[in-house]
Amino acid sequence: MAKQPKNILLGISGGIAAYKTPQLVRDLTAQGATVQPVLTRAAREFVTATSLQAVSGRPVRDSLWDPAAEAAMGHIELARWADALLIAPATAQCLAQLANGLAPDLITTLYLANTAPVFVAPAMNQAMWSHPATQRNVECLRADGVQLLGPGEGDQACGDVGPGRMLEPAEIAAAVLGDGTAGHTPDTGEDNIGSEQPLAGVRCLITAGPTREALDPVRYLSNRSSGKQGFALAEAARQAGAAVTLVCGPTRVEPPAGIRRIDVISAVEMHDAVQAEVANHDVFIGVAAVADYRPATVAEQKIKKTAATTERAGGLTLELVENPDIIAAVARRPKPPLVVGFAAETERTIEHARAKLERKKLDLIVVNDVSQPGIGFAGDDNAATLITRDSEEALSRQSKTLLAAAVVRRVAALLAERG
Ligand code: PMT
Repeated sequence: MAKQPKNILLGISGGIAAYKTPQLVRDLTAQGATVQPVLTRAAREFVTATSLQAVSGRPVRDSLWDPAAEAAMGHIELARWADALLIAPATAQCLAQLANGLAPDLITTLYLANTAPVFVAPAMNQAMWSHPATQRNVECLRADGVQLLGPGEGDQACGDVGPGRMLEPAEIAAAVLGDGTAGHTPDTGEDNIGSEQPLAGVRCLITAGPTREALDPVRYLSNRSSGKQGFALAEAARQAGAAVTLVCGPTRVEPPAGIRRIDVISAVEMHDAVQAEVANHDVFIGVAAVADYRPATVAEQKIKKTAATTERAGGLTLELVENPDIIAAVARRPKPPLVVGFAAETERTIEHARAKLERKKLDLIVVNDVSQPGIGFAGDDNAATLITRDSEEALSRQSKTLLAAAVVRRVAALLAERG
């Protein structure tokens, strides 16, 4: 196990998520760390030095050119003092400066002068995060050994929805202090899932999101899956070292960048994409909410309201036919991969999930009770029970990111048991 960092330099750059950093300082200090906050000029617009000084118990540093502060502890000494450098939030500008070795302020100078592990928690608008320039910078930082924490996905301060939210302070503290739950980028610390790389060399095929079953050129049957849980799984598997292929139904949430992706619309298309790919994969994880049925015919023109479909005439009856069961077809292959299903249940969850585990011949099923408010479909959180033929492990409500990391750890353990 890596030594828990005791002295943490916390660099805060200028994004709205900076308002959460007093809580982050509290979460870190509650677990025995000493935190030295360092602010950029822009960060002072979002959080005050007074608050940070009160919670950290240390004078806040914000300038390379403060003679009194430099006389007390110069920036090189400050960099040497740290057991870890954490930058949260890290804006797009901050990531660009770090990736390019630019050092216009105290945080970026400390980054260059520091030799301890570095963690960054990006926070920005979803389009800025997905921009190729930002993604290039992120890849550079990963290659330089920086551990990326997040970002998460969801509603943003600007009104957009997508990836770019800073992880919650407790998740960041857990990742930095090494309880292994936030697992992100491979690197120096031995405690988080990314650094363990338990899926190194493993090829993982994951389905995510809903399917859409067309009725006519403008209408379809679908469900409320946002893709978030599947995307979190894809990211967690990638962070754990797997080569990931994501087969993705139509979603509004942006899938994680840097992962090979096949976009599909309907269950039949998802089935065909999975069949074409699965032979090259060691693990299959079906997170997608696949429609069990589709309209028997797709009308060529928009279906019209006619005298024959009025309420008095009995309304419109749709004939549905069964869709292929994608995961069962994978498990029936002569040499199946390790097969993990998800089950969305609203009652007798464990009993129904166990029945699916047996019927579909799965190695593991992750059952979420989608009747509970705030978890399951669409939200940022989930709660689930991991069920195998001879075990059950309940995971309490947590972010989809953390739940995905737990599922990935279990997948790695099952692969290790298989030998
Ligand atoms: O996308 P989010 O908004 O984040 O929501 C996440 C989720 C609630 C969709 C996810 O956690 C979840 O529960 N996914 C499975 C939903 C589902 O379709 O469950 P099911 O019980 O109907 O299916 C069981 C398993 O069979 C699933 O692995 C499913 O992918 C698979 N299946 C189902 C039908 C079918 N025709 N083919 C399949 O492969």
